Amino acid sequence: MFRSFRGRLTATYLLLIVIVLTLTGFIVSYEMKNFVMDSFRTKLVNEARLGAELASSIPADQEADDYLQKVAIAVAKNTGTRVTIVDTNGQVRADSEYTPESMTSHYHRPEIFQALQNRTGSDIRLSDTAGIPFLYTAVSFSHADVSGAIRLAEPLQHIDDLFTKLLYLFLAAIAITGLIAFLISFLLARYFSEPVQEVTRAVSDMAQGNLKRQVTTIYHDELGVLATAVNQMAQNLDQSMSGLAEVNNRLATLLANTINGILMVDKDGRVAYANPVAIGLVGTDTNYEGRNYVEFISTYQLIESVDKVKTHLEPVRQEIKLFNRGDKTIETNIVPITEAGDTNLYGILIVLNDISAIKRLEQVRKDFVANVSHELKTPVATISGFAETLLAENPDNHENVREFSQIIYNEAQRLTEIISQLLELSRLEADPNSDIQVIDIGQVINKAVKAVKHKFVREQLNINIIMPPDTVWVEADLDSIDQVMENLIDNAVKYTFAENKLVTVVVEQFADHVQVVVEDKGDGIPGQDIPRIFERFYRVDKARCRRSGGSGLGLAIVKHLVENMGGKVWAESVLGQGSRFYFTVPRATR
Ligand SMILES: Nc1ncnc2c1ncn2[C@@H]1O[C@H](COP(=O)(O)OP(=O)(O)O)[C@@H](O)[C@H]1O
Ligand SMILES: [Mg+2]
Repeated sequence: MFRSFRGRLTATYLLLIVIVLTLTGFIVSYEMKNFVMDSFRTKLVNEARLGAELASSIPADQEADDYLQKVAIAVAKNTGTRVTIVDTNGQVRADSEYTPESMTSHYHRPEIFQALQNRTGSDIRLSDTAGIPFLYTAVSFSHADVSGAIRLAEPLQHIDDLFTKLLYLFLAAIAITGLIAFLISFLLARYFSEPVQEVTRAVSDMAQGNLKRQVTTIYHDELGVLATAVNQMAQNLDQSMSGLAEVNNRLATLLANTINGILMVDKDGRVAYANPVAIGLVGTDTNYEGRNYVEFISTYQLIESVDKVKTHLEPVRQEIKLFNRGDKTIETNIVPITEAGDTNLYGILIVLNDISAIKRLEQVRKDFVANVSHELKTPVATISGFAETLLAENPDNHENVREFSQIIYNEAQRLTEIISQLLELSRLEADPNSDIQVIDIGQVINKAVKAVKHKFVREQLNINIIMPPDTVWVEADLDSIDQVMENLIDNAVKYTFAENKLVTVVVEQFADHVQVVVEDKGDGIPGQDIPRIFERFYRVDKARCRRSGGSGLGLAIVKHLVENMGGKVWAESVLGQGSRFYFTVPRATR
């Protein structure tokens, strides 16, 4: 009960009330006893005086002792007391209850002694005869025959009874008022503690995280001020929390969706955060929480750099090649997190940038420049070499002159071819729009096959075309398709070194596009070269290809042409067994 505020309040009230009641009770009863005793004594003294009056008037015709005995009995009867009359020597002359002769001298009884000296005597003591407390009062009287004192004695028993009764009354009063007080204080405590409990409930709800909770009851006292403050606090907290949550969400979205890999290592070397990109690039596992960075990062080079940053507290920027992740190249930025003017390390931030594409483009560009110069230089060198020889040659040596001129002519042709293909490429790059029309692809393919057959009229060439029975309509540029087919069939023939050359062209219709396959039974392309053959000047076997007269630009042009029409191009090949070149164009909706 005393654990609750309400219980303590009730107990305090109760204690207060009991203390006040008891104290007043004691004071009141003490005062009352004095007052009652005083009036009791006054009454007895007055009665004694009346008796003295009677005793002083002994009639002349009567025996003094007889008269005094009558007085004693009469007064005793009328006042309900015991009356004793003594002379100035203290000798008992009359008594209402005992015979005077049997009684000793009363001279030294305090009340009598005082009365004989003309004062009002009074005393309280146990009576010799009855053994109970008595109040004694005595006053003097005088007469010519006998003088002395008259004493009245009354037992205090009924005063004590009165007080016992009073005490019981008083206790009953305490009990009743105590009960009432208890009820009132209980209700009061409830009245005072209820708001405190309401506020407490609200606050503990808020502590559980329910910040929308408010103290709804309105109080117009200090508690009201407290409740308003608590509500305000909860509202502010709620606002800050939702603001924080929003910032957190935004940050999480940003980190999860950025194209950079982001990794944070805390001061104890544990991975505090890794976004999906970082996990993909350098993580050993998708679960990074609580893992040590040495254990989590799969690339030894990166671990080494992080160690370096940890010891020197200097940022490190570095390019790392990831051999275990498809030969990717990443740029890493490792930054120590410190506070200004402080040498403590709070963590390490690692930003990863996948620069593989840039690296590849760089390589392509480098190769292109090198290739252009090489491809152009070779025929020019041949031309100038043979022209020089020709100049020095005897014009009569017709055979040599003819041979050299033929070589010069061939090289010049090749140069022209390379230059025109380069021009075609840059034209395609500058203006990627093609003249898209609805065309019958079968017709275009037949035409292209005829042209190639004509070109390789001396070869043993067999070209099959497999097509759906109905006309296949596509949305494409006629010239582009023509050029693509020419290039692919030309390659298929050129890179089949067997005597018998078999090329198959297959046209297939799909829901929204048409796919064309040019298949040969030639030598095929090594797997590692397949992704690169569509690059400019890229040729698998340089020496062999040059003999076949190619420039290495054909497939680059094909890729541009197909992609400009909204299609795709790719190749599949098994070395020594043949190759398949696929391209698609959108199907016409008619
Ligand atoms: N059908 C094929 N079979 C084998 N290799 C091929 C085939 N088509 C293309 N290639 C390879 O791809 C390279 C690039 O082809 P391309 O761009 O047409 O250049 P070019 O025909 O001028 O050599 C060729 O040099 C050749 O090595
Ligand atoms: Mg070619």
